[in-house]
Amino acid sequence: MSTQRESWSARSGFILAAIGSAVGLGNIWRFPYVSYENGGGAFFIPYLIALATAGFPLLFLDYVAGQKYHGAPPTAYRRMIKSKEIVGWWQVLVCTVIGIYYASVLSWAGQYTLYAFGQQWGDDPQTFFFEHYLQNGSGLDFGIVPSLFIGVAIVWALVLFIMYGGIRKGVELANKICIPLLVIMFTIMVVQAVQLNGASAGLNAFFTPNWEKMANPKVWLAAYGHVFFSMSIGFGIMVTYSSYLKKNANLTGSGLVVGFANSSFEVMAGIGIFSVLGFMATQSGVPVSEVVSGGIGLAFIAFPKIISNMGDAGTLIGILFFGSLFVAGVTSMASILQVPISAVKDKFGWSHKKAVSVVGGVSALISLALFSTKTAITFVDVIDHFANNIGVVTGAILSIIWVTWFNRPVMDKLMNHINAISSVKVGKGWAFMLTIVTPISLIVALVLSVFSLVTKGYDSYDLATQLIFGWGVVAVFALGSFLLTKAPAHATHHQHKSIEGENA
Ligand code: ALA
Repeated sequence: MSTQRESWSARSGFILAAIGSAVGLGNIWRFPYVSYENGGGAFFIPYLIALATAGFPLLFLDYVAGQKYHGAPPTAYRRMIKSKEIVGWWQVLVCTVIGIYYASVLSWAGQYTLYAFGQQWGDDPQTFFFEHYLQNGSGLDFGIVPSLFIGVAIVWALVLFIMYGGIRKGVELANKICIPLLVIMFTIMVVQAVQLNGASAGLNAFFTPNWEKMANPKVWLAAYGHVFFSMSIGFGIMVTYSSYLKKNANLTGSGLVVGFANSSFEVMAGIGIFSVLGFMATQSGVPVSEVVSGGIGLAFIAFPKIISNMGDAGTLIGILFFGSLFVAGVTSMASILQVPISAVKDKFGWSHKKAVSVVGGVSALISLALFSTKTAITFVDVIDHFANNIGVVTGAILSIIWVTWFNRPVMDKLMNHINAISSVKVGKGWAFMLTIVTPISLIVALVLSVFSLVTKGYDSYDLATQLIFGWGVVAVFALGSFLLTKAPAHATHHQHKSIEGENA
């Protein structure tokens, strides 16, 4: 490595950045719509179980991998177990693809923050979203929508500007500005929302378990997939962030703070959104489960619709909601991009500037090519589904079993390392989760998901779309990770000792 590896300025800097990474579109945009699609209260218990059986155990595994082996996933895993590098590249590619569509939804959030002034979506937010904003046509249409192009371009310019600053002057600084802003805006929004007439109906729908729906494996898969996405685990982010920690960092203590902060935020978002759904249900006299069509557009259709019913008070809620979505997303986007940037720096010895320019530039171009088009929402939906339910889940399974099933002594080493430097000790419970509970639940979930995708397909999208943007993306993960593992490394890539010796 040509230059000394950067580090966070202090523990608080890392915790803030890790919270900034975890809290993102996943919490505010994805969690409510995934909950809604999976039956509201039906989703909450699987979500909590997924958090305990997979979320926290994997969070700690990601932390120790990055911190102990000082690298983004490919390098860290290689130093842990030589053959594991390929799993690292799989995760890096999944993360890169997530970044490519994440920028698109982030740009929608930014533009909707502006539309919220004066409620520019008018009386029919659904038509506005699909026809005026996305100009969504039927089938695949690569026609460019100029306003989408501008939005995506601005997001990339902003995020690349942050990334050029590096860990301390870029990522850490952005989080120091964004997180307090986010907490203030979001808290005001939720407090306003729960006071709405009918909010309790929404909250009942959110918290009441639906045992029947819980028998559906789809709900469980969605819960596991979402927990990974939301906690930024299993696709490289937390491994990368913790690689910039100092030698004696308190791993589990920080992990618990970050994990609980993330889930609290998520539940708060659920409370906020379901309160407004309750308001809407009460106004229109239909059950909460039927009040809007769910799916990816929930935040961009349902929310504006409800806001329009609130008169002027709605304007404030709208600005705060979309503003929070944007601010939360910017810090997560930075963490997503940090993964491929660190990965190529580690393996190929590229300078920071070169890594940001090449990785960021190529990702931005693909992002612009796909998400400025009239088919943007289809691409987001299909790629998100395959990248999460197959890409993230597979990467998580491989990352875990490579250690717990096939390299048991490494597991002991990792456990000793965590316990030597952390305040909260991990023990047999952690090992048991990672050896049995997490991988088995994930494998069952993955098999069911693949079976359903193969036999029934995803949603009602045509076969070509699913093959190219769904299975095609999965093929890119597989082939790309193989090729990147084989690619010749920079001379210092293998010198672990010297890097561990750095006092970074
Ligand atoms: N963890 C990030 C989010 O929730 C990716 O949006």
